[in-house]
Amino acid sequence: MIDLRSDTITQPTPEMRQVMANAQVGDDVLGDDPTVRALEERVANLLGKSAALFVPSGTMANQIAVRTHTQPGDEILLHPDSHIYYYEAGATAALSGVISRLIPGPNGIFTPKSLTQTLRPSDPHFAPARLLCVENTHNRGGGSLWMLDQTRDICNTARKANLKIHLDGARLWNAAVATDTPEIEFASHFDSVSVCFSKGLGAPVGSALAGDADFIHTARRFRKQFGGGMRQAGILAAAALYAIDHHRDRLADDHQNARTLANLLTEIPPIHINPADTQTNIVRFDTPNHLAPPIADAAEKQGLLLLATGPNTLRAVTNLSVTADDIRSAAGTLKKVLAD
Ligand SMILES: Cc1ncc(COP(=O)(O)O)c(C=O)c1O
Repeated sequence: MIDLRSDTITQPTPEMRQVMANAQVGDDVLGDDPTVRALEERVANLLGKSAALFVPSGTMANQIAVRTHTQPGDEILLHPDSHIYYYEAGATAALSGVISRLIPGPNGIFTPKSLTQTLRPSDPHFAPARLLCVENTHNRGGGSLWMLDQTRDICNTARKANLKIHLDGARLWNAAVATDTPEIEFASHFDSVSVCFSKGLGAPVGSALAGDADFIHTARRFRKQFGGGMRQAGILAAAALYAIDHHRDRLADDHQNARTLANLLTEIPPIHINPADTQTNIVRFDTPNHLAPPIADAAEKQGLLLLATGPNTLRAVTNLSVTADDIRSAAGTLKKVLAD
């Protein structure tokens, strides 16, 4: 099987399993796990924040951020395709009691002008706008990038409107490699940043939320409230530390594989793809006539796993377990499936 459904499908490598087995651990809810503490310090430093919090998932990192920045009845602003709005099971409403106002834009990116047009004046009829969420890279946008100048511009506009700003940086590592810009430069524009270790970096479990010390102090209480306090979590933190040290630079290979696949797909009608849209490790492509789910089913029978993300949209995500040969073979399989 060649599995291109997601970059979350990777297996821990033998070396990663070794550091997990050897990790020093303690009860992290009591603050006793030295490996978790080392990971939190490492992430805080990498992102230029004073503190960080290890959590089980990217969803929990985002939801703790929303809960910490807002009060029930507040309004948050985000893209309609953002993971926080689209894929987190309504958690912002259920767990934080906030309403979402949506700012559309191509591939998950929106402009300062759209943000300004969405903001409403302070008025007792309106929920107060409290938080802007940005996602880089953007998952449903096809791994699209917010470039540094776009990031700066949107955050400046949000600041002028007195908004807090959260970055869903589940794939910030990919954005950093793709733009040759250290993560800290993106992170410096945000009040809080979530990052994932279990996507492109290939760790089995875990994410982190970073921010200033007061923010993380409060976030720690919400982590407990949301059921995310973990005990001997150093075993997982060790994998994350290993992934940060050993699997970041190689994301460039995933990006190259994704570009290769996007170019090969242009030769397979009736697939429609603009290869320039493939900026990182997610290849999003279109098919006509509600063909995406049957194509995914047929490809699976030929040993290729893809994800249909809509009736006419498929995605292929390159990852640690996929080689350049696999990419050529995947394109060959798709060609055969579509010919059949
Ligand atoms: C952009 C983005 N944010 C957050 C998440 C949530 O991560 P998790 O699956 O660990 O909850 C994902 C997962 O794919 C994602 O793509």
